[in-house]
Amino acid sequence: MASYLITGAAGFIGSHLAHALVARGEQVRGLDNFETGLRSNLADIVDQIDLREADLRDADAVRSACEGVDFVLHQGALPSVPRSVKEPRPSHETNIDGTFNVLEGARAAGVKRVVYAASSSAYGNQPGFPRVETMAPQPISPYAVQKLNGELYMQSYWRVYGLETVCLRYFNIFGPRQVPDSPYSGVMARFILQMLQGERPVIFGDGEQGRDFTYIDNVVAANLLSVQAPATSVAGRVFNIACGERHTLNETYDILATLLGFMHPSIHGPDREGDVRDSLADISAARKALNYAPQVGFEEGLRRTVAWYHDEFAR
Ligand code: UD1
Repeated sequence: MASYLITGAAGFIGSHLAHALVARGEQVRGLDNFETGLRSNLADIVDQIDLREADLRDADAVRSACEGVDFVLHQGALPSVPRSVKEPRPSHETNIDGTFNVLEGARAAGVKRVVYAASSSAYGNQPGFPRVETMAPQPISPYAVQKLNGELYMQSYWRVYGLETVCLRYFNIFGPRQVPDSPYSGVMARFILQMLQGERPVIFGDGEQGRDFTYIDNVVAANLLSVQAPATSVAGRVFNIACGERHTLNETYDILATLLGFMHPSIHGPDREGDVRDSLADISAARKALNYAPQVGFEEGLRRTVAWYHDEFAR
């Protein structure tokens, strides 16, 4: 049995990791400030984990949370590209200072490895698909810059202090428990809830923008593999975590509408500021070094996600 600290444990991705680790009999400590995370995401396992309420910007609390753990899965962040465009300071402080605090805490505590939730937004709008980790990053939004900064810090702590770090560049993750009703919600959760409530979702732009939408179980698997992989293959490295497929918003809308029996055509609004046009990952590095392979494909992921939201929100 190993011990894990999950930052952002009550969030969408963090809570899935917590459930997976508890199911494997691992010891789990969770950190969350509950600003965007929900206690209800951990309700069924709260008695089995050491859940601490603290902010990533609180260096002392983060240092204390790192004590005695083998691995840190650093998922905590203030997410959303548009949120960071509207108000960059809070996400700057959480995503940059918070990540620094995690690394300092991990270093002081002698943690074996830190796995970091990086973002595909690092690639920006440059030409060249699929995205390969060797491409020079060209972040556009403050959020993308912040997440990339975290990667650089992860690599620095490996090079300078020998702290094993692995960066996973997530490509548009979706699945159960993603907050659906915030203006900053990911598109999938937002569209599903709107369709369930009979509201017509708005597609920003022409809807032909593409994303490498990735079901949550694939991300959980990638994190667990990142912890197990030999340091010689993964330490100090960055890996795309995705399915390696591009799906447009128009296509996604149509599949969701069919699954939910939603009869209305989409409404289109203006392009969203700071948006990237396309996103598609080359996942061969993760396949090779982590033995990662997507386990749940796009359509199966959509079916599972729709089923979950239907159970939770359809009245
Ligand atoms: C970005 C990052 C992703 C990161 C996430 C965190 C890229 C390619 N991806 O996702 O790695 O984890 O931020 O928040 O940069 N949209 C609509 N209508 C809506 C909502 C969204 O049309 O009501 C559109 C957006 O304009 C965008 C797409 O849906 O084109 C996806 O948006 P969203 O789910 O917010 O994720 P990204 O910003 O792509």
